[in-house]
Amino acid sequence: MSTKYLFVNTMGCQMNVYDTDQIRERLAHMGYRTTNAVERADIVIVNTCSIRDKAEQKAFSFLGRLAPLKQRNPEMIIGVGGCVAQQEGKRILKRVPHVDLVFGTHAIGRLPAIIERILQTRCRVVDVEISDSISTDDYVLAAYPQTNVAAFVTIMRGCDNYCTYCVVPYVRGRESSRAMADIVAEIEHLVSKGVREVTLLGQNVNSYGQKEGLGSFAQLLMQIDAISGLDRIRFTTSHPKDLSMDLIKCFNGLNKLCRHIHLPIQSGSDAVLKRMNRRYTRRTYMEKIDQLRTQCPDIAITSDIIVGFPGETDADFEATLSMIQEVGFDGLFAFAYSDRPNAPAVKFTDKVALPVKKERLQRVLACQEEFTLKKNSDLVGTLQEVLVDGPNGNNADPARNDRDEELAAKTQWSGRTTTNKIVHFSQTAADSDNQILTGKMLHIMIEKALPHCLLGRNVSPGDVRSSLGKGECTHAA
Ligand code: SAH
Ligand code: SF4
Ligand code: F3S
Repeated sequence: MSTKYLFVNTMGCQMNVYDTDQIRERLAHMGYRTTNAVERADIVIVNTCSIRDKAEQKAFSFLGRLAPLKQRNPEMIIGVGGCVAQQEGKRILKRVPHVDLVFGTHAIGRLPAIIERILQTRCRVVDVEISDSISTDDYVLAAYPQTNVAAFVTIMRGCDNYCTYCVVPYVRGRESSRAMADIVAEIEHLVSKGVREVTLLGQNVNSYGQKEGLGSFAQLLMQIDAISGLDRIRFTTSHPKDLSMDLIKCFNGLNKLCRHIHLPIQSGSDAVLKRMNRRYTRRTYMEKIDQLRTQCPDIAITSDIIVGFPGETDADFEATLSMIQEVGFDGLFAFAYSDRPNAPAVKFTDKVALPVKKERLQRVLACQEEFTLKKNSDLVGTLQEVLVDGPNGNNADPARNDRDEELAAKTQWSGRTTTNKIVHFSQTAADSDNQILTGKMLHIMIEKALPHCLLGRNVSPGDVRSSLGKGECTHAA
C-alpha cells in the first residue's frame, strides 16, 4: 500500500493547534502521514479561525489557492474545519466548489468515518453538529512520537460568556469541561513522550468544572502539579470576572505553575466594558492585579485590548491608554474591533471608522512598547531558569514537531523563562559541540533586552532541574 499524505494548514488560536494534533492523530490511524508539501497531499485540511473578519478572509483566500491543485488531482480531498466551518456550514460548499468536506469544531472524532465515506462514494459532506458535553472518547492520546518540549492540552471547550463582540460561543458551543482523570492521564502520557511543559486551554479556565461539578480549576492544577516528570504548567485564558482567590494563591503555592498570567482586559472604560458584557469594571480588574502581585510579586501579566468597539469615544480610548499605563503589562495583544456574524455588537450603532480604529491601534501599541522593553530590561543582569525549547527559531511556532538535527547543529538556542519571555542564548565552551540542549532546564545570565526577547549566556554546568525548586531567579551581585 502506498503512503498517503495529509497536509494541514492551522489558523487561529492554540485550541486549533491542539485540534490539529487530534486531526493528525486520527488520520494517522488511517495511514495518513503529515507532509509539508501541499501538492503532494491526498487530503488537505484547513483548520480555520473566525475571530476577526481578516482571519475568515485568510481561510477563504487559502482555499481559493487550492483550486488548481484540485484540478490537477481530482482525487485530492479538501476539507474545511474549525470555526469558519462551524459558522458557515454548507454555505462553504456553494462558495468554494472544490471543497469536499466541511466539519465543525465538534466533528473531529467523526472525521475518519466521514473520510471513508468520501473515499467510497465521492460525495460532499457537511458535519457541523454540536453537542453540549464532552465525553472521554472525544479526545485521543498521541500514539506518535511527541518531540516537543511544550504541549497544549484542552481542558474545556466552548464558552458561555457571550461577550458582545465575540463569535466563540457560536462556533465552539456551550462551555463543557473534560473529566480531571482524562486530563491528568493525557498529561502523564505526554510526559512519557518527553513533554516538560503543558499549557492548559480553555476560553475561561477559571470556570473549569463548575457546571459539571467536577471540582475547581485550582484543584485540577494541584493534581497536575503532582505529576512527576512535568516541570511547568501554564494556562490560558482566565476571565477577569472569575479569577478567584484560590487560583491567585496557586501562583504562590504551586511549584510548577509558571509566573505568568494572560488576563484580557479589552478596554479601560467602564462604559465600553459594560457594552462588551465583560461583567467587571476597571476597578475590579485592578484589584485582581493587586492581589496577583501581592501573592507573586514578579508575576508577568499580559493582556488583550480591542480598540474601536462600537461607541468608543476619544475619552473611552484615553481611559484604555491610562489603564495600560496604570497596570504596566509585560506584553499586550491589541486588535481593531471587527464585526462578527451572530455576535450582538454587529447590530450596535455608532461604529468607529476604520482610520480611527487604525490610529488607536497604533497608539496602543506605541504606548505598550516602552513597558515591554522596560519589563525585559529589568531582567538584564539576572540569572533566569530557562526551559530550552530547541534550536533558535523553533519556538516561533508551537505546533511544529520537526525538531530536526539540521537545526540542532546550530549553536544558538531558545527557551522561555517562567514569566514566558523568550530567551536566545549561545552554547558555551562547556557544552560539548553538538550537545542537544532541547528539554534541558538551564541557568541563563541575561545580558541584553530587546523589545520582544532577551539575549543571554548559559552559565549552568548542566541541567539545573534538581538544584532549584520553583524557577527561582536571582539578581547577580
Ligand atoms: N476567551 C478569551 C479570548 C478569546 S479571543 C477571553 O475571554 O479572554 C482572543 C481575543 O481576540 C480576545 O481577547 C479579544 O481581544 C479579541 N477579539 C475577539 N473578538 C474580536 C472582535 N470581534 N474584534 C476584534 N478583536 C476580537
Ligand atoms: Fe469570547 Fe468572551 Fe468567551 Fe472570551 S469569554 S471566548 S471573549 S465570549
Ligand atoms: Fe479563532 Fe476559533 Fe480560536 S475563532 S481564536 S480558532 S476559538
